[in-house]
Parts: sequence; structure tokens; C-alpha cells
Amino acid sequence: MFNSIQTIQVRTSPAYAVSIGPGLLRTCGQRLRDLLGACHVAVITDSTVAPLYLGVVTGSLQTAGFAVSSYVFPAGETHKNFDTLSGILEFLAEERLTRTDCVIALGGGVTGDMAGFAAAVYLRGIRCVQLPTTLLSAVDSSVGGKTAIDLKAGKNLAGSFRQPVAVLCDTDCLASLPAGIFADGAAEAIKTGVLSDEHLFSLFEDGTLTTAPGSVIAQCVAYKAGVVERDEKEQNERRLLNLGHTVGHAIETCSGYTIPHGHAVAAGLAIIARSAEKLGWTDAPIADRIAACLQKNGLPTGTEYGAAELAHAASADKKRTGGDITLVIPRRIGLCELKKVPVAELLPVIQAGLEG
Ligand code: GLY
Repeated sequence: MFNSIQTIQVRTSPAYAVSIGPGLLRTCGQRLRDLLGACHVAVITDSTVAPLYLGVVTGSLQTAGFAVSSYVFPAGETHKNFDTLSGILEFLAEERLTRTDCVIALGGGVTGDMAGFAAAVYLRGIRCVQLPTTLLSAVDSSVGGKTAIDLKAGKNLAGSFRQPVAVLCDTDCLASLPAGIFADGAAEAIKTGVLSDEHLFSLFEDGTLTTAPGSVIAQCVAYKAGVVERDEKEQNERRLLNLGHTVGHAIETCSGYTIPHGHAVAAGLAIIARSAEKLGWTDAPIADRIAACLQKNGLPTGTEYGAAELAHAASADKKRTGGDITLVIPRRIGLCELKKVPVAELLPVIQAGLEG
């Protein structure tokens, strides 16, 4: 039953395993029983995922002997806010979860971020398990312990670093993902290819992501695990994982979060690659190759928003320190670097990367 599961260790504090493979939702109870011990688990999920997987997950947890409660909030980035967080926290308190109990985040990036944040602050921190059901949460957001909600001023502006105690990534969930949601995750995976190595990047050019997603997810998670182990709190190397995100977050903010995260990151990646090439920061031309790869995976390479709007939104980004903002610049496929630029220079940098 447990065949074809790949496991990647993340040696943070606490250390934990990311398991990737088929059938992990219906076996999650047995898999978590030894790790968590007898306890009360609260499954937090959204209105899209609940009808698909909540029953199978709560059934597996109950069969394994856990006391199980569940909370469903309305799906969508626009609900990743204080109101939803407050609802989750009140629910955990009403259900009387204690410090030895556990939150289980079942869903995509929004659910993982919010349930993870609730677990990080409830009773000053209880355990959290991530059960990612989208490609985006599988390759990126379920691993590494970033948790957050959005504020009116920008994305992920309130949050905490809190590592999960386990991640179970059931690859069976990917088969039923709508094309746009799958593409959203492809953006973070392609980002990882640009950051880490040309071979991984080529798997997005040749379609391997769709034919063997488990293997590609494992490679992305293995890369991210190494970065997070070396720089858990994003003081240095982990900032590279924000490739495409400065402009991407600005696009999301300008759209009122109607453009999905991965699509915004894809456009942000294409834009910063074009800027870097035009401004002479790359070793060789790379922008067309990155744009072609994004397009092949159903992703945008530009935006309707102008440079001034984007620069204004980006100036509220977390990556700003004083009058400077740190951009992630692709030098070539497999090598990126951090570049601190004055916030005033953001506008011409973004302008250089816009299409047309
Ligand atoms: N998603 C980027 C990070 O986890 O650091």
C-alpha cells in the first residue's frame, strides 16, 4: 500500500518529512498516528476542497483513532484575511483544542497559509500538518513554514515562520485539478527550475510535469528543502525563492487578488527576465526561453497594468528595507542572484520588462 511514496526530509526545527505519492489522503490517519499520538485534530479546508476530500480525510483520521473536528471557509485569496483567521481561531477555541492537539491544513496555498498561521498563534503555537491538494501548494507553499494572511496594503503582510510537523502530498489530487489551477502551480515549479538547474527547467519545456508530476514535485521540494534548511527565516539565500514575486505580488494587489498567485508570478518572472536581459544583468539571452516555457504551460508572460501602478504596489512589498528593495535577478537558467535597488529605480526596471 505504501509503495511509490517518495520522502524528503526537511532538517529545520522541528525537522519533518514531506511524503509525495498516491493514496496519501485516504491513508493519512495511519500515517499520522505514530507521529501525532492520540489527540484532537482540526481539519481546516475551503468550500472547493471540502466536497472533494474532507470526507475521505476525516474518515481516515477517525478510523485511526483521532478525535476529529472540521472547519470550512469560503474559497479564494480574497478570504485570506483577518476575518477568516478569526473564524478559524474561534473555532479551535470552541472545539477546545489544547497544546498537544493539531491543526490539519487540507487544500491549496490559501488554506495552508491561513491554517498554518492559525496553528502558529493559537495558544501561542500548536502543531500543524499540511495536506496540499494543488500543484502550487505541493511544490512550494506547504513546505518551509511560511504562514500568512493578506492585509489591504498587500499580500502576506501579517504572518509567521512555523514549520509543519509533516507534509503529505497526495499526487492523486492532481488528476482532477482544473487546467488553470494546475498551471498556477506550474509557475512556482518553473520558478524553481530557473533558480536551481537547467535539467529541472527542461522538464517543463518537454511536458514531464504533466506525465510524471510526482517526480517533478519531489525535485522541486528537494531543492526548496535545502534552501530552507540553510536559511529558515529568509535572512539570505531563501530570498531567492521570491523570484518573480515582487512584480507578481504587485500584479495580484493591482487586480484585487482576482489574478491567481501562480499566474501573477509567471508574469512577474517573464517581466524580471526581460528587464534583466535588457539591463545587461544576464550572462546570455534567457527571456524568450523563459517566456516560451511559461506559455507552453498555459501561463501569461505580461500584464495589463502599467509600470507606475506596479512600482507603486511593489513598494509596499515585504522585500523592501528602508529605501531599497531586493530583487531576484535570473543570470542564466539555474543561477539567480539578489540585487538591491533603490525603490525609486523600480519603475524603470519594471518598465524595461513590460512587453511591447
Ligand atoms: N514561497 C517562498 C518561500 O517559501 O520562501
